[in-house]
Amino acid sequence: IPPPPLYYSPFPTGAQHPMEPKNESWSFPKDFWWGVAGASYQIEGAAKADGRGPSIWDVLSHRVAGFIHDNTTADISDNNYYMYKQDIARVAALGVKAYSFTLSWSRIMPFGRGPVNEVAIAHYNDIISTCIEYDVIPMVTLFHWDLPLALQDTYGGWLSENIVGDFVAYAKVAYAAFGDRVDHWFTVNEPIVFCNDYPLPAMYFKNFSIPNAHQPFLCGQSVLLSHSQAYQVGKAMMPNATISYKNNGGYKIPQTNSSDDALAVQRAWDFNEGWFSDPIFLTGDYNAAVKAYVSSFLRPFTASEKQTILGSADSYAHDAYTAQFYFAPDSGVQACIDNTTHPLYPTCANTSYTYSAQDGGWLVGAAADPLSPWLHKATDWLPAFLHYLADTWAKDLPIVVSEFGFAEPFESSKTLLQDILYDPIRSSYFHDYMRAMLMAMSEGVNVVGCLAWSLYDNYEWATGFSAKFGMQYVNFTDPALPRYYKASFFEYARAFEIYQE
Ligand code: NOJ
Repeated sequence: IPPPPLYYSPFPTGAQHPMEPKNESWSFPKDFWWGVAGASYQIEGAAKADGRGPSIWDVLSHRVAGFIHDNTTADISDNNYYMYKQDIARVAALGVKAYSFTLSWSRIMPFGRGPVNEVAIAHYNDIISTCIEYDVIPMVTLFHWDLPLALQDTYGGWLSENIVGDFVAYAKVAYAAFGDRVDHWFTVNEPIVFCNDYPLPAMYFKNFSIPNAHQPFLCGQSVLLSHSQAYQVGKAMMPNATISYKNNGGYKIPQTNSSDDALAVQRAWDFNEGWFSDPIFLTGDYNAAVKAYVSSFLRPFTASEKQTILGSADSYAHDAYTAQFYFAPDSGVQACIDNTTHPLYPTCANTSYTYSAQDGGWLVGAAADPLSPWLHKATDWLPAFLHYLADTWAKDLPIVVSEFGFAEPFESSKTLLQDILYDPIRSSYFHDYMRAMLMAMSEGVNVVGCLAWSLYDNYEWATGFSAKFGMQYVNFTDPALPRYYKASFFEYARAFEIYQE
């Protein structure tokens, strides 16, 4: 493997890094790991290679007119399936300590269940060996939304508890193949997101005659059973492994100090983070709000299921990108556009106050956004958020910031390479984020690692290639798909040079 050029900083020698002068009371401990993340369908390409079976995302991207913002598919994407050696070498060259990637379930088991595709096992084995060769810790997610199509077709995928046995069988195959070298596992990525979106795939595949408002919770029930059983099986096979799942959501701030808005915020925690984290970290069962909502259509968990669910995580992993204001629907602040999913527990997210990107998925109109990083820094909300996660769910468990990142507005309208590689807003997001993490850690929050999204520009689901989260630019118009570091990647790496013990 030819090592990539070892540039270190695109900035003039001696220029001061924004995180200098160093604040001596802050530090990342020696064993703190920082890294980058990507996920199978978003980066691999090679959609038909080496026995990979189709996933629901192949259908959504190919067959559903208008589903993908720019009408693209991830058939090729970053071509990571063939270029992973270079990809790992390039992140290692910047000193990255951890690389988080996802196994494609439909590569390993093309039908979701049954025969195992040994070519896929060999492929992921080589990714893991390459990480180890470069002294990068491999971190593996089992499921990041690309469900094998066969499971969707046969029984409705996550809508059915049939998936539990299949997921656990798949997890066992992965643990047996890779568990001797992989110590960090995530079972599922962001179930709040894929379960809430479930009415979409279900609509396009088969009509299972389940009301839309029930589907997210059926999916959630399958997720809790699958995750918790896969956790227990994993711990039996790999007692030293850290197994968790990736929760997500922004910090929730009441829009006003009215008691109605405070309640709206609580409902938002209950129906988002708390939907999965209350059972897993606190009680083994749903919180009262979710329970009241689902009791008419979900069967209750049995005593032994509750026992399996409770404590089924060794760390609290959260994808923490941003913060949002919440308000009660009738507070008159603005029209509530988000209160239809849970009619009994209405809460409104002020969705124009979140991220920045130039597409429908990640917000239009970034300049008006009080939480956008150039107006409202991570230091204003992330320390409070990390304390909240620690006090509410993690308690004594370590916290992992399993994703954070930024789609710089207007990046995809840049044309000159030098402009694309200079991404000051993303850089400032990373500086503020590092600063905010250090603040919370100096106040006692036990964050043990963080993973920036993403190692390079990739397929942003329904947004296609239009929203760019990469710390590397990939020239998708060149068939060789050359990669280039953006300035933000150097700056992210530099923060650890300055602050890691
Ligand atoms: C979270 C998801 O896990 C990932 O797939 C997505 O690309 C990023 N957020 C950015 O939207």
